[in-house]
Amino acid sequence: MWKTFLIFALYFIINIHGLEDAKSNQITIPIMRKKTPREQLFIAPNLKLYGIDFGWLHKPPHNHTSTNDSIALFRYLDSEFYGKVQIGQKAQTFNMVFDTAWRTSWVISNDCPFTTVGCLGHNKYDHTTSFTYRPNGTNFLANEGPYNLTGYYSNDTFLIGHTRINGQLFVEMTSVPADYALYKSDGVMGLGFKVDSYDPFFYSMLKNKSIEKPLFSVYLNRDRQSNRGGNLMLGFIDKKHIHQKQVPGQNHSIPEQITYLPVDPSNGYWQFKMDRIVVNKTNKNETYPYCVGGCDAIVDTTTSIIIGPMNDIRAIHKLIGATSAILGRSRVKCDTVNKLPPIDFMLAGKNFTLKGPQYVQKMSMGPIQFCVSAFMGSADPNEQKMWVLGASFLSHFYSIYDVANKRIGFVLAA
Ligand SMILES: *[C@@H]1O[C@H](CO)[C@@H](O)[C@H](O)[C@H]1NC(C)=O
Ligand SMILES: *[C@@H]1O[C@H](CO)[C@@H](O)[C@H](O)[C@H]1NC(C)=O
Ligand SMILES: *[C@@H]1O[C@H](CO)[C@@H](O)[C@H](O)[C@H]1NC(C)=O
Ligand SMILES: *[C@@H]1O[C@H](CO)[C@@H](O)[C@H](O)[C@H]1NC(C)=O
Ligand SMILES: *[C@@H]1O[C@H](CO)[C@@H](O)[C@H](O)[C@H]1NC(C)=O
Ligand SMILES: *[C@@H]1O[C@H](CO)[C@@H](O)[C@H](O)[C@H]1NC(C)=O
Ligand SMILES: *[C@@H]1O[C@H](CO)[C@@H](O)[C@H](O)[C@H]1NC(C)=O
Ligand SMILES: *[C@@H]1O[C@H](CO)[C@@H](O)[C@H](O)[C@H]1NC(C)=O
Ligand SMILES: *[C@@H]1O[C@H](CO)[C@@H](O)[C@H](O)[C@H]1NC(C)=O
Ligand SMILES: *[C@@H]1O[C@H](CO)[C@@H](O)[C@H](O)[C@H]1NC(C)=O
Repeated sequence: MWKTFLIFALYFIINIHGLEDAKSNQITIPIMRKKTPREQLFIAPNLKLYGIDFGWLHKPPHNHTSTNDSIALFRYLDSEFYGKVQIGQKAQTFNMVFDTAWRTSWVISNDCPFTTVGCLGHNKYDHTTSFTYRPNGTNFLANEGPYNLTGYYSNDTFLIGHTRINGQLFVEMTSVPADYALYKSDGVMGLGFKVDSYDPFFYSMLKNKSIEKPLFSVYLNRDRQSNRGGNLMLGFIDKKHIHQKQVPGQNHSIPEQITYLPVDPSNGYWQFKMDRIVVNKTNKNETYPYCVGGCDAIVDTTTSIIIGPMNDIRAIHKLIGATSAILGRSRVKCDTVNKLPPIDFMLAGKNFTLKGPQYVQKMSMGPIQFCVSAFMGSADPNEQKMWVLGASFLSHFYSIYDVANKRIGFVLAA
């Protein structure tokens, strides 16, 4: 029954997509980045949606001993990195995505009618059973064209790692797009910047001084087959995730230096200037630069891919021999992956290089294996000049979000 439903749902989603393309020109979203489900789907290394593995519908992720406010992230379909969060008293447990490109935390509400496909199969927050619940009731609408998120604000206790927040304002979502039925997560914890009176949860933690340092860091596991997605570290940098380099001529190694860039938080994003992107065709001794003279970039922990201006992505795809496939993704011949040119992302004068296997995603549908480029042209007219670095980049480079000093750091991950 579930299989039938999901296959139906998948068709449904593919169909909506055509619609969305046609309408996307009129949409403006101020703070929250539009998450085209297209970005999220068809990016799985093991897309088992065609009736093979529905285990995730029934079994919770195995328990994970959490260390000091280091929240274990699980991975699903290579695009969702979620951790456990408890809301209310008595505690209700949810799988929450930690999103660096979103501010407002939300969870699916018990008030979401069962006729709303997107709410199916999720844990739902029920404020009537929580005695720490404080009503607010202000309506929330993120108008994402045909994808609306609607709900209302509420206030309750959150337990994240070992840290308790008494009174975090969040949204109880009463309607979500149908796609959410396919997701593991029940909601989102916003890790974006504070831009108005709303306190994203990290700011609530800072106010309560329950965090040692006003920064957090994100480690995403490179092993795409593992459901151990990584860790979110609240208040500290975990040295074990930093690559150690050998000291020349000596028999010991030291951690690589973190490269910091100033961020412009005015849009709520972790937005910074990227110097350039260079495709380095080593064998031909040719380099092809993009984002020449610098461009804006943001990081997004909720997408696996790297999004850029359509023209640049087309050119890069031509260089790596990618041909257009479905839903905006481009296909690469699997046997060329190891021979593809390295691509340098230059940040603060330093090269952050991805090799072929790091910017190509292997997927399998039953017996069929195919490879798609992690690069994708932006469908959002407001983001035509922006680069969005998702997990393909963030799993190779450990990222540090220094809230107090308004800067972001990257270092080769270990
Ligand atoms: C995992 O955690 C849940 C609740 O957090 C608990 O009910 C369950 O017994 C735990 N399972 C194991 C194997 O520890
Ligand atoms: C977590 O931090 C607290 C306070 O800094 C410390 O007492 C505790 O031992 C730490 N726990 C772990 C598991 O590191
Ligand atoms: C409810 O939340 C809104 C939106 O953040 C806020 O402006 C308002 O002050 C809150 N009202 C109450 C009664 O807490
Ligand atoms: C989304 O919300 C807007 C504004 O309330 C509304 O006009 C539109 O019809 C909604 N779209 C869907 C698909 O419900
Ligand atoms: C602050 O954090 C401590 C420890 O997690 C908790 O006991 C306390 O209730 C919190 N206070 C508020 C106002 O969130
Ligand atoms: C949330 O409720 C707590 C009381 O539990 C209150 O102290 C706090 O101001 C409220 N926060 C917001 C943003 O309304
Ligand atoms: C380097 O150090 C390791 C252990 O720290 C040791 O086993 C090894 O013999 C050393 N090699 C040299 C060339 O000193
Ligand atoms: C291209 O890559 C090769 C090998 O990684 C490197 O040696 C060379 O310096 C690069 N070329 C340029 C122009 O960066
Ligand atoms: C690559 O090009 C540079 C500058 O054009 C030249 O100095 C270098 O010798 C060339 N390397 C190879 C391997 O052809
Ligand atoms: C970074 O890469 C570019 C192009 O691939 C090259 O021109 C530049 O010299 C490199 N810079 C460093 C610091 O390695």
